[in-house]
Amino acid sequence: MPDASGIELKRGLSGVYLDRTESCFIDGEVGKLLYRGYNIHDLAEKSSFEEVVHLLLKETLPNSDELNTFDRELRHDRTIPAPVLEIISQVKDAHPMDVLRTAISALAAFDPDVRDNSIEATIRKGLRLTAKAPTIVAAHDRIRKGLEPVEPNPNLTHAGNFLYMLFGKEPTEEETKLMDVDFILHAEHGANASAFTARVVASTNSDLHSAVVAGVGALKGPAHGGAAEEVMTMSEEIGSPENADEYARNLLDNGGRVMGFGHRVYKAEDPRAGHLRDRSQKLGDAKGQPQWFEILSHLQEAMKPYQAKGIHVNVDFFAGSIYYLLDIPDDTFISIFALGRIPGWTLNVVEQYSRNMLIRPLMEYTGPMDLEYVPLSERG
Ligand code: ACO
Repeated sequence: MPDASGIELKRGLSGVYLDRTESCFIDGEVGKLLYRGYNIHDLAEKSSFEEVVHLLLKETLPNSDELNTFDRELRHDRTIPAPVLEIISQVKDAHPMDVLRTAISALAAFDPDVRDNSIEATIRKGLRLTAKAPTIVAAHDRIRKGLEPVEPNPNLTHAGNFLYMLFGKEPTEEETKLMDVDFILHAEHGANASAFTARVVASTNSDLHSAVVAGVGALKGPAHGGAAEEVMTMSEEIGSPENADEYARNLLDNGGRVMGFGHRVYKAEDPRAGHLRDRSQKLGDAKGQPQWFEILSHLQEAMKPYQAKGIHVNVDFFAGSIYYLLDIPDDTFISIFALGRIPGWTLNVVEQYSRNMLIRPLMEYTGPMDLEYVPLSERG
């Protein structure tokens, strides 16, 4: 409703359509998500992250030959320049997302297309960033632990190679599939806060690296990508399943939020969450740590009354337990979200460029007017 001055505020831009898109459809009322028309359920269960990146950035699901060529290029682009590794060493004590943000920014200096904002060059840069970002995250984790970074292994898939570089040993097929599904689920999600941030940067005709750096910054917050880590922190505080109900009641009675629940767009269950639910349970059983899934299940039970308000689990709720069980450090959970989302940020920048208009909303001014300027020497 317009206020007394005839202005209708849309705080948080909630419910505002910014533009049209051909890449991501979300129906928040029924919990439906499509990437370029394909249902996330099919993509998560039947495709690979490499296929999904091709779908998002090259606009089609590839045939075998196309996928082989595309995948070869991604594998080839995994290494990062030695000066970027050196920068990572210099800032190794910072949060992994700060290190990722810094290293992506530094990569711009070594990208041959850095000044070219054409659609073709932007896609090339986005694919190089997609390929190199896992190397940054893995190298940082090893350097801060006093270990040598592991060279990318061109014989492994994108997901498998990431785990290999992180732990220095080849992951099992199950572990690779878990990581692959997780990357697919996080690859794109419309005008979410970080993609919108990337679009704002692109709308000034700035470049992809700047947009992705800004996207990493927006993703870092606990209301967006930080929730998976907070869910795990919460689970560790709860400690054992029988404490979960009381913990949730205390938190909610005191106006707190159960992390991993709620979403600006989904008023039904986030369709990505189910793909991680069963996998979290199976992995917990396989690792002899079923308690994490049980704690999460109790929390879900405690949150049942909130379903009437449209608050359901989101993608982050089960993701944290999977990363934890894969031995990924808690502070690196958000970085994994970022690794999956780089194709999505690139896609949003490409769409923004393809019919660009500067994004520049208004603010309703409510401060004082026409105050008399008092010179510094006369102020008390
Ligand atoms: N637990 C308890 N109550 C909640 C939760 C939650 N997780 N989320 C929302 N609510 C309640 C709010 O308290 C509010 O209640 P009120 O109307 O009685 O005041 C109502 O639901 C609406 O909340 P808003 O914050 O206005 O809703 P918005 O759409 O802006 O919030 C958000 C979405 C930020 C994700 C919110 O649900 C939240 O903070 N969730 C926890 C953090 C989280 O899991 N983030 C990950 C999001 S998914 C992603 O980025 C991949």
